[in-house]
Amino acid sequence: MRVVNACYQFLDWDSVFFGFRVGQADLSKGSARLLDDALQSALRDDVSLLVVHADEAIREKLPYSMLLADKPVTYEIDYRKNHFWKRHIDSPVRAYAGFDSRAKLDRLAMMAGEHSRYYFDTLFPKADADRLFVTWVDRALNNPDQTIHVASDPLDGIVAMLISRVLHIDGRTVGNPALLSVVPEWRGRNFTQQFCKASCDWFLERDVTYGQVVTQSRNHVARAIYESLNWTLRSERYCYHIWLRPLDRPQTRAAKFEAYPEKVR
Ligand SMILES: CC(C)(COP(=O)(O)OP(=O)(O)OC[C@H]1O[C@@H](n2cnc3c(N)ncnc32)[C@H](O)[C@@H]1OP(=O)(O)O)[C@@H](O)C(=O)NCCC(=O)NCCS
Repeated sequence: MRVVNACYQFLDWDSVFFGFRVGQADLSKGSARLLDDALQSALRDDVSLLVVHADEAIREKLPYSMLLADKPVTYEIDYRKNHFWKRHIDSPVRAYAGFDSRAKLDRLAMMAGEHSRYYFDTLFPKADADRLFVTWVDRALNNPDQTIHVASDPLDGIVAMLISRVLHIDGRTVGNPALLSVVPEWRGRNFTQQFCKASCDWFLERDVTYGQVVTQSRNHVARAIYESLNWTLRSERYCYHIWLRPLDRPQTRAAKFEAYPEKVR
C-alpha cells in the first residue's frame, strides 16, 4: 500500500489479487476537493478502479458520477455484557473439521458476500469476487487467530457457517464474526443465534471481549439479526466505485462501461 497524498492510496494487494489496478481514496475526514487530487494520482497510477470512502456529510458534495457500491454499517458489542447468552442454547453448531467438504464452505462464503459491493457492482468481475470470498476461507483455515463454525446435516453436509476472526484495529483487539451464511433451504431455523453464541464463546475463551461486525446497510436481514442480539450501531459510511478504465478480460461483466447513470445514489 502506497500513500501518495493525504487521502489516496494505491492498493498493491488488491491490484495483484484482482489483476487490475485498484486505488482507494478516504474522504471521510477530508474535503470533497481532495477527490480531484486522488483522481489525478489514480490516473497517473493507471488505476482501473478507484474506491472512495466518504461519510454522510461529504457525499452530497461529490461532483463526480460514481456508483454508490456499498453503505458499510459497523456494529459493536461487549461480549462480557451479553446476558442474552446466559440462556442455554441447544446447538448443532460445531467447529469445521478436515473431513468436511471444502466446496460447501466456498459456496457459503460466496453466498455470504451476496450483498457486498463486489457483487453489487456489475462492472466488477464476478469470478474475481468469487475468488476473494474463497480466499477468506483459505485464510481462516490457515490462521490460528481465526476459526470456522459450521452446522451440518447427514444428507446435505454443511448447510451453514460463520468465520470468527481476532483482528487488531487501531491498536485494539477485536473479535469479528464474518461470512455468516445459511443455504436457502435451511434458513429460518434460528441458526444465526447459535452461531453467534459459538463465536462469542470462542472469543471469550481467548480473552477477546470487544466485538465489531460489518454488514451492508441494504442487508436488512443481517442488520435485524445483529440488532436483536444486542449489537449497537457504531458507524455507517458510504463507499463509491469509480471505474477509470474498462477491464479488457473475458470474465468481466463490464459490457457497458459507460453504464452508470449520472450520480447513482
Ligand atoms: C442472514 C442469514 C444468515 C439468516 O439466516 P436464517 O437461517 O434465515 O436466520 P435465522 O433463522 O437464525 O433468523 C434470525 C432472525 O432473522 C429473521 N429473519 C430471517 N429472514 C428474514 C427475512 N427475510 N426478513 C426479515 N427477517 C428475517 C428471523 O425472523 C429471525 O428473527 P427472530 O429470531 O426474531 O425470529 C441468511 O439469510 C443468509 O445466509 N443470507 C445471505 C448471506 C448474508 O447476508 N449474510 C450476512 C452477512 S453479514
